[in-house]
Amino acid sequence: VNFLSLIEAKRDGRALSPDQIAGLIAEYTAGQIHDYQMAAFLMAVYFRGMDANERRALTLAMRDSGEVLQFPADPRPVVDKHSTGGVGDNVSLPLTPLLACLGFRVPMVSGRGLGITGGTLDKLESIPGFTTALTTGRIVEQVQAIGCAMCGQTERMVPADKRLYALRDVTGTVASIPLITASILSKKLAENLVALALDVKFGCAAFMPNRGAAAELAEAMVSLGTECGVPTRALLTAMNSPLGRSAGNWLEVKESVACLAGRGPDDLRELVIEFAAHLLVQTGRAQSLALARPIAAEPLDSGAAHQKWHEMLAAQGADLEATARLLEQDHTAPVVRELAAPEAGWVVCCDARIIGEVIRDLGGGRLTKESVLRHDVGVDALAKPGERVERNGVLLRVHAGTPEDADLAVARLREAVAVGPEPIASEPLIAAVIDGG
Ligand code: URA
Repeated sequence: VNFLSLIEAKRDGRALSPDQIAGLIAEYTAGQIHDYQMAAFLMAVYFRGMDANERRALTLAMRDSGEVLQFPADPRPVVDKHSTGGVGDNVSLPLTPLLACLGFRVPMVSGRGLGITGGTLDKLESIPGFTTALTTGRIVEQVQAIGCAMCGQTERMVPADKRLYALRDVTGTVASIPLITASILSKKLAENLVALALDVKFGCAAFMPNRGAAAELAEAMVSLGTECGVPTRALLTAMNSPLGRSAGNWLEVKESVACLAGRGPDDLRELVIEFAAHLLVQTGRAQSLALARPIAAEPLDSGAAHQKWHEMLAAQGADLEATARLLEQDHTAPVVRELAAPEAGWVVCCDARIIGEVIRDLGGGRLTKESVLRHDVGVDALAKPGERVERNGVLLRVHAGTPEDADLAVARLREAVAVGPEPIASEPLIAAVIDGG
């Protein structure tokens, strides 16, 4: 492949053929194309887009860059959920063991943080000993044995996404409909699913700024997933405030464990139950969402999902005793500071974009491919829009590595959380559902 001519073609707005796309993905995965050239290509795609044929070719080429999971015949449907990314979005952590309790098989292949959004793999790696690097054989074995596994792309499974994902993260090329579509669906199609549910986020901390753009992305993914044989459904969800009351790798694990134990923030629990309910309906295991929701809630309330979480942690090498000790601690970061409400009133804004940027700058996210992540930093005890606070009441807590970092973060976060004299109506969590039919 003459890659320079393909960069120039895309720069000038011309469509590439499936063979050209397959060639460039094969060569990039084999290390025959430099990152600087691929970065230029990604930026050309960011500005010029890709038509439906190009998106399909890119997705399939990325899926076929590695091995595809093959599951033995089994009455338990193989399903999964994936989010386009948000701040404090830890739905996948409680949802995966919950789905296993509901009789599904879940081989969840996830990603790391992208831009200011957190990544499931980064969160999981804050658990002592937990490994997210599983071979395809081990994924299938574990899913057959306990119903679920959570892991990342590897050199053997969707390696093209592993490399492109890391490059997009640090080149300002994440928020592109074709690139997000190919990244998510290449991983999900490599799992050989029976049904897929997608969380397509919109708002100030999402890659899609508004509902219209999110609907466009959702339609692109739902139609391509369904066309490729995986019945796909997308929920459009708001991402102007963080989900739950915590954001940051370990803090989100802690909040997920509370959700698994039947506690935790209402909005997190609602989304977890909603995704499980949709998958029950998509696979014909419940006749309606109204019937599916109580079925989905039961393992959270009975402790079964929490037990399954421990089984998954043990299967993936976690030190359960060390994890339990960490969970008992109020914080694992060296410094914690509170942001106090300047006056009594109602929270009118809790800006997830500013919060995401502050967490990245505290070390919770990456600015370069070489950045070393901190798992202990973040925010918790977040007051959410619509909630009453008293003067000097806690609006949030910052967890930081040093007193200087904490002070700087608190100063920046004063802009993120606003308190007003009147209560405001909180926005609905789920704005729409788009189904492949
Ligand atoms: N999640 C992914 O796996 N890829 C993206 O591009 C965005 C979110």
